[in-house]
Amino acid sequence: MAKIALGVTSSVSIYKACEVLRGFQKAGYEVQVLMTRNAARLISPLLFSSLSGRKVIVELFADDHPWSVAHVALARETGLLAVVPATANIIAKFARGIADDFLSTFYLAVESPVLIAPAMNAAMFLHPRTQANVRELRARGVEFAEPGRGYLACGDEGVGRLAEPEEIVARGLDLLRRSGSLRGRTVLVTAGPTRESLDPVRFLSNRSSGKMGYEMAREALARGARVVLVTGPVALFPPAKAEVVRVESAAEMEAAVLREFPRADIVVMAAAVADFAFAAPSGRKIKKPGLPESLAVVPTPDILKMLGARKAGQVLVGFAAETEDLRENALAKVRAKNLDLIVANDVSRGDIGFEADDNQALLIDAAGRVTPTAKMSKRELSREIWNVLEEILVRRS
Ligand code: CTP
Repeated sequence: MAKIALGVTSSVSIYKACEVLRGFQKAGYEVQVLMTRNAARLISPLLFSSLSGRKVIVELFADDHPWSVAHVALARETGLLAVVPATANIIAKFARGIADDFLSTFYLAVESPVLIAPAMNAAMFLHPRTQANVRELRARGVEFAEPGRGYLACGDEGVGRLAEPEEIVARGLDLLRRSGSLRGRTVLVTAGPTRESLDPVRFLSNRSSGKMGYEMAREALARGARVVLVTGPVALFPPAKAEVVRVESAAEMEAAVLREFPRADIVVMAAAVADFAFAAPSGRKIKKPGLPESLAVVPTPDILKMLGARKAGQVLVGFAAETEDLRENALAKVRAKNLDLIVANDVSRGDIGFEADDNQALLIDAAGRVTPTAKMSKRELSREIWNVLEEILVRRS
């Protein structure tokens, strides 16, 4: 069974890490504690080694490590890295890739899911730099056990209080449970809009932010899949470990998807492919005097339909953006494009779908089974979708 690496840094809530350690042990996991030097000044590593039954690692270079390149050796055996409590400093180091002690070096070496439970003064947590670091790590696939509100060690009241130990343990165990469920599978995800050029400076595009597709890719990685992410131009950090293929036009996306398709087990077409492109794009910038009265467009290839026609065992997932008759229209697309699942969004609502952080969808499978979801973040929705997809994979095997 994989080990849990528990990173402990120097917040006053450090004593609660003992409870988290206990929780993981009760679930049957062996826990290796990694402390920063400052954490080891706040609380003796002896306490953690007594509880864990293993020598705590503090130093990157120590004579008594029983292995030669300890951070790499341990990384291979680790199924989860949980950092409890996490200071602003360790979060900043993780975000920037600074590796100047054992824990920060280990973060770069480990390939397992990472869970961070921040605990600090409210002003430090809400500082734009800390928030930017959290956002970036989150985009790269790190999970956060959000700190709660309450009385803080500094005497202030506000956000920054370590999440409850039971919640941290539950989140960690959930990550471990999901972490291998797609191992050995190759997932092809498309995301974002496409751009259809009119001339070297102008293009036709749409409002897709790419968030839903990036979340689908991130969750597939968290479940152990190999992920190829074919992405249109978006302003997002790709999840770590995704094989990223950047494209611009529908034609480029088509070429990239068809190239990767034979090796894929599951294809998630979350991209908002432009439905039409200019019939006669110009190689030079169109000047005002030469402006045509109208611009002719031609349909782009329907990539998903093409995949539906040539699929050989792949599970095919489409997205439908509808403003009316959500269920009927989506069901018609499942049939027309030979899909295994469609995620249907009502884009007439401003609070969900395009550009929003939240989404609500109907998941409709090939047999017409409809699973409505609650309104939730795109990250949570990606989990629901993968749960349904895993059921489809199980039914197939
Ligand atoms: N899609 C595609 N290639 C296109 C257009 C769409 O692969 N040229 C895929 C999208 O990635 C999405 C699904 O088809 O998964 C549904 O796209 P949507 O625009 O909702 O539906 P359309 O089939 O284009 O139909 P309509 O615009 O008439 O609703």
